[in-house]
Amino acid sequence: MRIDVISIFPEYLAALELSLIGKARQDGLLDVHVHNLRDFTLDRHRTVDDTPYGGGAGMVMKPEPWAQALESVAGDRRPVLIVPSPAGTVFNQAMAHELAAESHLVFACGRYEGIDERVIEWAGESFDVRPVSLGDYVLNGGEVAVLAIVEAVGRLLPGVVGNPESLVEESHANGLLEYPVYTKPSSWRERDVPEVLLSGNHGRIASFRRHEQFRRTASRRPDLLEGLAAATLEPADLTVLGELGYDVVGGVLAHRYRSAEL
Ligand code: ADE
Repeated sequence: MRIDVISIFPEYLAALELSLIGKARQDGLLDVHVHNLRDFTLDRHRTVDDTPYGGGAGMVMKPEPWAQALESVAGDRRPVLIVPSPAGTVFNQAMAHELAAESHLVFACGRYEGIDERVIEWAGESFDVRPVSLGDYVLNGGEVAVLAIVEAVGRLLPGVVGNPESLVEESHANGLLEYPVYTKPSSWRERDVPEVLLSGNHGRIASFRRHEQFRRTASRRPDLLEGLAAATLEPADLTVLGELGYDVVGGVLAHRYRSAEL
């Protein structure tokens, strides 16, 4: 996979040289190029921003440096252009899988109040443009979002994570949060590892872990359970979910009290 990142703080992206992503680059699995937007400016001051039309606080990124920078990375196919923005679609594991199937991702890191909207429209002629948000909070720019997205996508590429099994059991892999994990010693500061995990009974361990996934998801992320298709669940799952307050209504999970409130 080829990745181009355009930013006025290319130093921010040095973290992409570390750890698994750095190793994937060394192994030739990821080809990452970071570009300084200021190299595409046309004036002596290397200006990238200006005041907003219509007034208001802050500065807006000028269109022409972006057009020059994007043209320099476009290639002949239609790459995906990810524009990190708090006004984007919220990033999740499903989107990470979708992006992992692409051969070329380009990231446009905005700063200030954002990039002149005409750039986003114009880019649609040669890119598949996707405004993407990390979540419902505001960062100072897109760089941190790029680090997060490249890490989430990069680790899904074949060969990047040593043991691909670890991708199967983790949080969000099956729409649920991951079960809790424990290691030695089995007794630590008067706290014991759940007995079932020491039993060697693989069936009991699997159902314990699955039930812990439901408990944890119900308490921390009830939004992930609401509307989950019951067809993906086993009878034993429905018993645990029933204890947690979930019924099947019209083929999907619904919380008893929350749906009664509606
Ligand atoms: N830039 C500023 N805030 C952001 C967010 N929440 N997600 C992605 N990019 C951003």
